[in-house]
Amino acid sequence: MSETAKLELEGKSYELPVIEGTENEKGIDISKLRGGTGGYITLDPGFKNTGSTKSAITYLDGENGILRYRGYPIEQLADNASFLEVSFLLIYGELPTKTELESFRESITNHTLVHEDMKQFFEAYPAKAHPMGVLASMVCSLSTFYPESLDPNRAPEAKDLTIHRLIAKLPTLAAWSYKNAMRHPFMYPNNKFDYCENFLHMMFAMPTSEYEMDPVIVSALNKLLILHADHEQNCSTSTVRVVGSSHANLYASISAGISALWGPLHGGANQAVIEMLEQIANDGGDVDKWVAKAKDKNDPFRLMGFGHRVYKNFDPRATIIKKACDDILVKLEVNDPLLEIAKKLEKVALEDEYFKARNLYPNVDFYSGIIYKAINIPTEMFTVMFAIGRLPGWIAQWKEMIENNEPIGRPRQIYTGENNRDYVPVEKR
Ligand code: CMC
Repeated sequence: MSETAKLELEGKSYELPVIEGTENEKGIDISKLRGGTGGYITLDPGFKNTGSTKSAITYLDGENGILRYRGYPIEQLADNASFLEVSFLLIYGELPTKTELESFRESITNHTLVHEDMKQFFEAYPAKAHPMGVLASMVCSLSTFYPESLDPNRAPEAKDLTIHRLIAKLPTLAAWSYKNAMRHPFMYPNNKFDYCENFLHMMFAMPTSEYEMDPVIVSALNKLLILHADHEQNCSTSTVRVVGSSHANLYASISAGISALWGPLHGGANQAVIEMLEQIANDGGDVDKWVAKAKDKNDPFRLMGFGHRVYKNFDPRATIIKKACDDILVKLEVNDPLLEIAKKLEKVALEDEYFKARNLYPNVDFYSGIIYKAINIPTEMFTVMFAIGRLPGWIAQWKEMIENNEPIGRPRQIYTGENNRDYVPVEKR
């Protein structure tokens, strides 16, 4: 007989099924709780203990620092695979064969251009527009150019076309949001480049001069995108699934994910890390003072790039990226005073009782911000880089949700407001 959980409520006993995942993680299935108990729901702000779905995409064990995409350890993928290979794996469930990878690459390469009319949208934004705001709007705008994509339940080939278009165009839209902020001419994608090279070309080349590809930078970018490609049911991914569950189209769902990622507690942390390091440097570089501020409960300051909702021992992505970060700084001979502050901060926080007791370690965004800075990506673009990396994960999760015909996302609440009362005309209030 399968295991059940017992719930005692108002003198009655209820049996709740226990479900088990393929890695033996266990959950109590409460999907029939409300009807069965005459109205009881569970309350879990921030969904810290709530599973919203069964998913076969990413396995994450926060206690033991394990992250696998479709069963493959993140360490092996980051060391050996290309970002497009990992994208295919996440979206279609298996590593591509040589032929499959070739045709996937070709399809992505053929869709990198965006409609010329979209250029006018960019021109309407102020130069100071944050590129995440621009990117979220542009991705949603893609739906207006491809009205057939509005139906998420189309035939697989039609759905694939929408997916490939989005993967192909996101770097173009991202790079153009930067060019627009700089008031520089847009650089068109070039089919001779691979995915990462093309993005660097559109970001840094000018009509008058080519961007010199450095294999160290291209490989670091490839690794960073892979490390960010999926992370199961985090804030932005849950957003994509919930928005998509209303059968909103893929572009609208991903645009919502981009907005959710923007916040400094999520993807915006990589930008916040550099801003925090600059703040500490401008204040004289006294790391101990800022660590004390982070520990002070009356001070809203937090150490950006430290802590994680699910990793409570170490973040496996941070281990890989820390090594990549050390390598790239040496190879590129980067000499940046902010890096000294980052190293001091890392050391002080790792030895401090407050951080140790709360299992607060540097997370992936602590190091990714430093690498992006070293390869000359402007600070405001850091979260955009995260979005490019996370795109295949969002798509895979959206596709899984649609194909499993999941119900519309609609949480409940415990109401704590006023009871029924009569309207009072304004002159009598
Ligand atoms: N600096 C100082 N104290 C912290 C920090 C920090 N960065 N993070 C958590 N704490 C403390 C917090 O005050 C609390 O202390 P106490 O138990 O005494 O009240 C305890 O640690 C637990 O924190 P929490 O806020 O309950 O933990 P959470 O799981 O809700 O939040 C987090 C996780 C990532 C939002 C949080 O650690 C944080 O704000 N970190 C800084 C922002 C950041 O780097 N975010 C990127 C996360 S990685 C990228 C991604 O996957 O999105």
